[in-house]
Amino acid sequence: MKENIILHNYRVDCNDRRKSNKHNSFLIWVTGLSGSGKSTISNELEYTLHQKGIKTYVLDGDNIRNGINQNLTFSPEDRSENIRRIAEISKLFIDAGIVVIGAFISPYHKDRQEIKKIVGASNFVEVYVNTSVEECERRDVKGLYKKARNGEIKNFTGISAPYEAPQNPDIEIKTENETVEGAMVKIVNHIKEKLTYNG
Ligand code: ADX
Repeated sequence: MKENIILHNYRVDCNDRRKSNKHNSFLIWVTGLSGSGKSTISNELEYTLHQKGIKTYVLDGDNIRNGINQNLTFSPEDRSENIRRIAEISKLFIDAGIVVIGAFISPYHKDRQEIKKIVGASNFVEVYVNTSVEECERRDVKGLYKKARNGEIKNFTGISAPYEAPQNPDIEIKTENETVEGAMVKIVNHIKEKLTYNG
């Protein structure tokens, strides 16, 4: 399908947008089990960056799976396609000069590698929200673990579908013994240099 597609070069490019925003743009990818605290971390991170005048946008399972990806299930193939599309969307946001925060379970190692390939390794920061499945099940904020145990939900990550934990994430947050404030300090310190626009 790509053979007759010729990209046009626009006069305003990513660098121009970064320059006028006075900061770089990249993707902060937040992975972890359902109920691990990805949305809490992402919400607080966006707020923290926004307060500093940084242009941000959060993509998460709810806004994406309700809209552009509403035709996708939780089969391994559909999860891969979910993540691939989100990576392509993130790439556009990065080009638009925005710091994107992507909060998705993204249970497969190969899919997370693919995101890195799509957006470019230098535009990718991986945050692993490490909460044990026992703790996620205990919290069960959305009542989904209970449904998964009852067999009402199939292929549920951590119960009847795998979660391949990142082996070498840029940042790891252990929500069972770290505070949200502590997590913010850790993430902001890590991305400080990356955010700086040097021309
Ligand atoms: S991913 O695996 O494809 O990355 P995504 O982050 O988009 O998942 O969506 C996960 C959210 O969908 C969960 O937080 C939960 O609310 C809901 N959900 C519904 N069914 C499942 C399932 N089988 N496995 C995991 N999450 C599910």
